[in-house]
Amino acid sequence: MIIKSDYLVMGSGIAGLSFALKAAEHGTVSVLSKLVASDTNTNLAQGGIAAVMGPDDDLKFHVQDTLESGSGLCHLDAVETVVQAGPQMIAELRALGVPFSTLEGNPALVELGREGGHSHRRIIHAKDMTGQAVQKVLAERCRQNANIETLEYHLALDLLTEKNPQGRRPRVTGAWVLDRRTGEVNAYVAKIIVLATGGSGKVYLYTTNPDGATGDGLAIAWRAGAQCANLEFVQFHPTCLFHPKVTNFLISEAVRGEGGVLVNREGEAIMRHHPQGDLACRDVVALTIDAEMKKTGAPCVFLDITHKEAAFIRERFPKIYNTCLGLGIDIAHEPIPVVPAAHYQCGGVLVDNFGRSSLPGLYAVGEVAATGLHGANRLASNSLLEALVMADRAAQASHAEAQSLPMPEAAVPRLWPTGRLGTAPSEAVLITHSWDEIRRFMWNYVGLVRSDQRLSMAQKRLALVKSEINEFFRNFEVDADLVEVRNIAVVADLIIQCAMARKESRGLHFSLTWPNRDDVNFQRDTVLENPHPSILLS
Ligand code: SIN
Repeated sequence: MIIKSDYLVMGSGIAGLSFALKAAEHGTVSVLSKLVASDTNTNLAQGGIAAVMGPDDDLKFHVQDTLESGSGLCHLDAVETVVQAGPQMIAELRALGVPFSTLEGNPALVELGREGGHSHRRIIHAKDMTGQAVQKVLAERCRQNANIETLEYHLALDLLTEKNPQGRRPRVTGAWVLDRRTGEVNAYVAKIIVLATGGSGKVYLYTTNPDGATGDGLAIAWRAGAQCANLEFVQFHPTCLFHPKVTNFLISEAVRGEGGVLVNREGEAIMRHHPQGDLACRDVVALTIDAEMKKTGAPCVFLDITHKEAAFIRERFPKIYNTCLGLGIDIAHEPIPVVPAAHYQCGGVLVDNFGRSSLPGLYAVGEVAATGLHGANRLASNSLLEALVMADRAAQASHAEAQSLPMPEAAVPRLWPTGRLGTAPSEAVLITHSWDEIRRFMWNYVGLVRSDQRLSMAQKRLALVKSEINEFFRNFEVDADLVEVRNIAVVADLIIQCAMARKESRGLHFSLTWPNRDDVNFQRDTVLENPHPSILLS
């Protein structure tokens, strides 16, 4: 079956939904969500949205902080574009009804939080559930919009591209999509295709991301031949809860913003030697924690906010307070055990200042995209802002593009092209083993600290696992677990390729083999080009 709309959006987080709302002013929009629509990274985002709204703040300070955090790799035009649009984006969300925390006695003014790397208070938040508040309102607005159809349990397998591009990069015309409830694969065709699939934290053993963060958009774009960049820059959040039962719960950086102190088991403040203390940039804090854990052999460090009033903690961080309490940790009276965990993919599908990828017709917005904003290390709470601004700009640019385009249909094959003769792999362990193996060697060899030797060991192991996964994919009926592990393998490959290419240490990429920053040779993006685009076999 072929299903058509003007815009096809993959992903239902802040980037996908805000794009959908704007694009729906001009045409029909299909939003695909691979699980329930609220199962997104956005929904878990605690901290907030960085925007210049404080009386003593200025756009130039936000630009400066972003550049500083990005360690010489941010694109100034992207930084200025995103930062300048911040206040407007917040105003739009407030007009839609997002209940940001406001100043007591003055509901017109938003309350501003502080996070690492920010020189001023500028984090607009809804207590410690900002993403959830935004997601809820955007989803409701999309539901009310007759031009938007949200399809849950729909997982994109690969992109459809124009058949004979005659030496040009092929135009993307749609996607093969698996309906996970029926097992059917259908072709979704559109004038404009938008990747808003979020990140890929599940490539690592420990992550703050939800299970769905398997880098699907990045992988399908790569297979179709889109340029990708800067994937060596994986951000590890310094403070993921360390608990045997709950492994991906974030303890927001805002806790340090309100005075939380990282301590070792002796109670010594571990960031005491850094000029910015606990509010240093994330790469610095995560590496310091890692070094402390390695030095002492401790399985975690602690985040202590017990010096604040219990009432303040409960009011400002209700989600963190109640979740920890449910696990037997009263954060008002005892320090929180924390460890670093994979949190954010700073690189992605390479796009311009309007979200356009190197493939005509294909846009990427949000975490899946590399816009140049984050450089070598994302500044806290810049990502939701980037998603809003780039979704807005992509909606403008794609509207202009879509107006002159016919609906692409002739080039679409009628059937999912590979012969699916077998049924799903008879033993699920074949898939789960590959998945575990990738996540473990990525954690050990391609984590916070890398070396040429570790990277080459990871690459060798990945080659074997990838060939097994591709064999499963060719021979068995398509199934969501298989699709995700196939995508994770592509993401791991891209991270390793980028990390191997960068023979220096900078931002989030720290190599024991190349411990110094090298501005002469490496003050540039790592751009990867797929030499053999192939949607079926790669
Ligand atoms: C946090 O609340 O610490 C996460 C904010 C972010 O990742 O930008």
